[in-house]
Amino acid sequence: MKQLEQMYEGKAKKVYATDDPNLVIVDYKDDATAFNGLKKGTIAGKGAINNRMTNYLMKQLEEQGIPTHFVKEIDDRKTVVKKVDIIPLEVIIRNRAAGSFSKRLGIPEGSDLRCSTLEFSYKDDDLGDPLINSYMAKAIGAATQEEIDVITDYAFRVNDLLKSFFKGIGIELIDFKLEFGKTADGTIVLADEISPDTCRYWDMETGEHLDKDRFRRDLGDPEGAYKEVFARMGFTEAD
Ligand code: TMP
Repeated sequence: MKQLEQMYEGKAKKVYATDDPNLVIVDYKDDATAFNGLKKGTIAGKGAINNRMTNYLMKQLEEQGIPTHFVKEIDDRKTVVKKVDIIPLEVIIRNRAAGSFSKRLGIPEGSDLRCSTLEFSYKDDDLGDPLINSYMAKAIGAATQEEIDVITDYAFRVNDLLKSFFKGIGIELIDFKLEFGKTADGTIVLADEISPDTCRYWDMETGEHLDKDRFRRDLGDPEGAYKEVFARMGFTEAD
């Protein structure tokens, strides 16, 4: 399979066409942004770590019955994935109050929740990815009820699987964001990435933040946090 022209460049990844119309190549960058691109920086080594962590987790999820876009890792930073039309909803699951949830509802970060929650944001950078509910998502044509039902079911199943995986390596999964897409034949698959860019990981013993909040909040050494999670997942630099 041959890499062809760049189709798109996002904040953390580039996407290239291939000579197979159903496949594209994603290329993970070290660039980091926060607050809808207002804060910009670099986290050295992040691209390779996020690529490899995402692929590892997507493979595990696929084995547990969650369809994903993953096809094949090409190298450290590049992966072949199924070409999808992204459903323009960010699907956020929370197990503990943090971030925008804490701010919006006035609930201190770290507070227990009585149950896990799911929320949707409408993927639109110009609008700052506003929070919307499923009625609004249907009304604006972002997704159908059937799609929302499938996405919701997958997202909670992913939560159960990821929570227990990260617990096994001493990390509490506080919250995370997923994106889903539709393949050429209309199948809904998990897309985008699952990484410290898109999840909150807190060390179960110390509460230390092992994710992109280290960059967003200037907590220091984001590289070290990404490497720590990578190492706990069993990867070595030489892998
Ligand atoms: P939030 O608390 O800022 O809404 O973030 C919830 C989760 O979503 C957190 O794990 C980080 C992730 N996230 C993204 O992946 N992309 C984003 O643009 C934002 C704002 C959050």
